[in-house]
Amino acid sequence: MRKSGKSIKETAEITGISPNTIKALTRNDKVSNQTINGSDIDEKIEEFGQNNERIIDSKSRRITTLADLIKFCKIDLTVWNIDRHIINKWEVGINADGFVVTSPLFQVKVWLTKKYPEAIKPVIQPVEINIEIPKVIKTKKAGLRKGLLLGDAQIGFTRSMRTGKLNAFHDRRAINIVIQLLRRYKFDLIVIGGDWLDFSMWSKQFLKKPSFYFTTQPALVECAWVLGLIRKLQPNAEIIFLEGNHEIRPEKAIMENFIDGYGLRSADNVEGAAVMSIPNLLGLPKLDIKYYGNYPSDEYWLNDHAVVRHGDIAKKGSGATVSTLAKEAINTEFVFHVHRLEMVSKTIHARDGSEIINQFCPGCLCKIDGTVPGDERPNWQQGIAVINYDLNRYVNIEPIPIQDGRALYRDEIYNGTDYVSILRKDTAFKDKAGVRQEWNF
Ligand SMILES: [Fe+2]
Ligand SMILES: [Fe+2]
Repeated sequence: MRKSGKSIKETAEITGISPNTIKALTRNDKVSNQTINGSDIDEKIEEFGQNNERIIDSKSRRITTLADLIKFCKIDLTVWNIDRHIINKWEVGINADGFVVTSPLFQVKVWLTKKYPEAIKPVIQPVEINIEIPKVIKTKKAGLRKGLLLGDAQIGFTRSMRTGKLNAFHDRRAINIVIQLLRRYKFDLIVIGGDWLDFSMWSKQFLKKPSFYFTTQPALVECAWVLGLIRKLQPNAEIIFLEGNHEIRPEKAIMENFIDGYGLRSADNVEGAAVMSIPNLLGLPKLDIKYYGNYPSDEYWLNDHAVVRHGDIAKKGSGATVSTLAKEAINTEFVFHVHRLEMVSKTIHARDGSEIINQFCPGCLCKIDGTVPGDERPNWQQGIAVINYDLNRYVNIEPIPIQDGRALYRDEIYNGTDYVSILRKDTAFKDKAGVRQEWNF
């Protein structure tokens, strides 16, 4: 009617609708396209949103409730949750047979979310990588050697002045752990790393206590017994004995005190080992143990890049000795002597690439409670080491610390025991009268 040119007043008179209502309706018309002419009213349903959210906005005379809207739009309530909804109602004019009458129009608007939200692509997903496990390329076993490093047993005794009983410097429980390992694994190389004999009576360095006297022979007997056992358990191993500063004590004492005794050999064996030499005293040739003398020059090369020595440097403080060695080192060095478990690594950068070298001391096999002459409260550690190496450059070190007669190696605990009863039995002898005697170990 307004579109046909009738004024608000005329329209009001014809329709009976107040002029203010007609004004409001025609104003709304600009925004909502609603007119007072029913044929022009937009009854419409709009839908917004995407993915997991949906908004349905209905403006209709017939859809007046939420239930109507759900039914009309076929909203599946097993899929959608109704978050909220609104219902508005207002009057609009419609044309009924040329007359404009009012009729209610309803807005029903609903906000929906999916009960089970779907992933929105691109979605953050767990990383899926096809992993191809690399093939293990084993070095031929023939090229690898397994070695055992055994240092500083300091085999020796004090003798009780009252009972004559021998109290050992060496820790038989620690040595027993070595024996157990030799039973358990096969070795290609066994290094007796020097200072296996203490020879406390043969040194000027310390006061010779009366309790040190007449202990050399039982020390030689026990040392030879242990070495014999090692050979028995590893008949095919290469066993080497590196001379330490303690093994040279008898030789030095002879040179200093009785030079004519130096290098003496029995008349029927002038080409053999000197009478007072370690190989002779321990019977090493019979045990097929190769002795490396000339301490401190004696050394054994595992390959072109790794050497074993007894060592002649002992610095105060943990790690200090191997750190000192590392300063000058250009190869991996295994040492003993300092009685500490120490290891340090160093990378050398050369023209043809870099190389990591290690300076390592596995610790000792002697008692660390002050029994060994020299230090009342020594900062020493017991230990041995297994090394795996090839004959070119590779060496892997497995330190085995020993504490209080126990060691842990490759998931097994080794409890060392005192083997003294077997030692006594094995080393028993007959005296001049043919009576069986045992050492007073
Ligand atoms: Fe030593
Ligand atoms: Fe030493």
